[in-house]
Amino acid sequence: MEPVIVFENVTAGYRVLRGFWSLIPRVKPVLYNLSFNVYPGDKLAIIGESGAGKTTIIKILLGLMKPVSGRVLVFGKDIYALKSSERRKLYRRIGYVPQDPGRSLNPKLQVIDILAEPLEAQGVPWRIIEDKAREVLGFVGLSDKVLDMYPDQLSGGMQQRVLIARALIHDPEILILDEPTSALDVSIQAQIIKLINKIYGARRLTLILVTHDLAVAQYVADRGIVLRKGVIVEEGDLMKLIRRPEHEYTRLLVKSYMFE
Ligand SMILES: Nc1ncnc2c1ncn2[C@@H]1O[C@H](COP(=O)(O)OP(=O)(O)O)[C@@H](O)[C@H]1O
Ligand SMILES: [Mg+2]
Repeated sequence: MEPVIVFENVTAGYRVLRGFWSLIPRVKPVLYNLSFNVYPGDKLAIIGESGAGKTTIIKILLGLMKPVSGRVLVFGKDIYALKSSERRKLYRRIGYVPQDPGRSLNPKLQVIDILAEPLEAQGVPWRIIEDKAREVLGFVGLSDKVLDMYPDQLSGGMQQRVLIARALIHDPEILILDEPTSALDVSIQAQIIKLINKIYGARRLTLILVTHDLAVAQYVADRGIVLRKGVIVEEGDLMKLIRRPEHEYTRLLVKSYMFE
């Protein structure tokens, strides 16, 4: 089976200016020589502590941040070698739920307009957008009443559901969720985990879950990549990673998870 995503020796980082007189930006790496594949139908968790580089991986994956070296293939295409029009077309096949629901929603837009955005960008007629919005909202467990509300009228859990609905409205083949439960209370976390599992069961897509929480990873994913300070320390079947971790760092993660 052909992978839907390939990272090949990817090194990436952020620009820093060394000394205020220096005009030559330097890149301080935060990801070192990463290689991994994601296959159709995978339920993959990218696990690591805050600052490990998880969100940076997602930015690279979404075509938002060019690596210093290495190659990134999405649906077989080298995304940083593509024309921007082709890249946009490619990203219609991906749904993305950003970290931090509160700050990711435009407070000036009603939910209907938030949901409409991805389809409007594709020129879908408004009548169809409205139908789609109702359908996907019901699917994530929200009523039509939410359509004309603004984000600050919604609870954290409802905001997260709206973001998930927006990521699903164009029927993506890959769904990427960045820390989907981290900003939520524990009882709401369980509901969102249930929803993610329902989505996977109903839509048969490829799921990439980014989390610092081994428990969340275990409830959702079956394969794991353990990231530590920009390096993959271990990768494989999640049950095996938890029961028989090979790397010292994974062992520490599992230990702190068990004694939480
Ligand atoms: N815009 C940025 N400019 C400079 N450094 C950044 C930026 N975003 C993230 N970093 C740094 O890159 C590293 C990885 O960050 P990130 O990918 O957000 O980690 P995670 O999502 O695992 O918490 C951290 O050391 C962080 O401080
Ligand atoms: Mg992050």
